[in-house]
Amino acid sequence: MKLPSSRWLRDNCPCTKCLHPITQERTVTLIDVPDVRAAAVNTDSSGALTVDWGDGHIGVFPAELLAERPELTTAPVGLATVLRLDYSELDTAVGMQRWLETLLTQGAIVVEHTPNVDGEVVRLAERIGYARPTNFGTIFDVRSKPDPNNSAYTAAGLDLHTDLPNWAGPPDFQFLHALANEATGGDSTLADGVAIANALRVSEPKTFEVLATTPVPFRFHDSDDDIRFTCPIIQTDAGDNPVAIRFNNWIRDIDPSADDTFYDAYMVLWRMLRDPANVLTLRLAAGDTLCFDNRRILHGRTEFDPQSGRRHLQGCYADRDMVESRLRKLLL
Ligand code: OGA
Ligand code: ZN
Ligand code: ZN
Repeated sequence: MKLPSSRWLRDNCPCTKCLHPITQERTVTLIDVPDVRAAAVNTDSSGALTVDWGDGHIGVFPAELLAERPELTTAPVGLATVLRLDYSELDTAVGMQRWLETLLTQGAIVVEHTPNVDGEVVRLAERIGYARPTNFGTIFDVRSKPDPNNSAYTAAGLDLHTDLPNWAGPPDFQFLHALANEATGGDSTLADGVAIANALRVSEPKTFEVLATTPVPFRFHDSDDDIRFTCPIIQTDAGDNPVAIRFNNWIRDIDPSADDTFYDAYMVLWRMLRDPANVLTLRLAAGDTLCFDNRRILHGRTEFDPQSGRRHLQGCYADRDMVESRLRKLLL
C-alpha cells in the first residue's frame, strides 16, 4: 500500500474525535491542527493502519476502509502462491523436471513428505548435485540453541532476509526441511525481492538507483570466522535490470556517512517488504522442504515460543550451476 501523507491521514482520521460517530461526517478542521505530524505509523497483518498522532489520540484505519481507496492500493508484487510437489514424484524424470523448473522460474517450491530423517535435506540436494558448504557447515540445524552464533538459531522472529549476503558469492538456492514445527508461531514468510526491486524501478527510479549503487557492508563474525562483503542491496545487470538482492538487517552495517538519501530509500524498500500484499505467509508442516532462490526470494519467520512445542528445521544450500546442469541432463 502507498502511504498517504500525514495531512491526508489526519484529515481522514476515522477516530471519534475526527469523525462524528453517528453522522459519520468530518469534525476535524485541518487549520486548527497546527502541527500535523504522525508520531508513529504501523501496518498490522490484517492490513490495518494505525497512526499515533502523538497528541494523545490514535487513528486506526481498518483495511476495508483503505481498500475503498484504490488510489492507495498497489498491485501485489511477486509471489502469489508456492507450488507443492510430493517427495515421491522426485523418483520420476517428470517430477524432477517440475521441481527444478519451478525453482528456477517461480523462485520457490515446497517438497512435501520429505522423510523425517536426520540429514535428508542434504540427500535432497544431492539429487541435483552437491550441497554447497558454508561457514555453517554442509547442513545446518535451525532451532533455538543456548549459545547461538546467528539470529536464526534463536526463537526470535526473522524479518525478511537473504542468507549470507556477507559472502562474495552467497548460495544461490536454499532448502529448509521441517523435521518438527509444533511450536506456537514460527510461520514462514517469503517475498520476491527481484520483483519488488523491479516495481520500485518503475515507481521510484531515484530510490531504485540509490539502492542499486550505494555499497552496504555485510559481516558475519563468530569465534571461528570473520566473513565480509560490501555490495549494494540491489544487484543489476548491464541494462540496469535487477537480477538479485542482498538484504539482511542483522548482519549489515551502514556507512556512518550515509545521509537521508540512503536511509529514505532503505525505508521505502522496508515499507514494501512490510506490506502484507507483498508477503506470502505459509506454515511448514513436518516433512515440508521449502526450496527457494536465495538471490531472488527473501525469507523469514515469525517469532516462536520454544516452550510450546518442538521446532527443528535442517537446511542446506545448492549452486545454480548444478540446478541448471541437472535440468539440462533431464531434458536430453
Ligand atoms: C535461516 C532462516 C527460517 C526459519 O535459517 O536462515 O531464515 O523458518 N530460518 O527458521
Ligand atoms: Zn483522530
Ligand atoms: Zn535465513
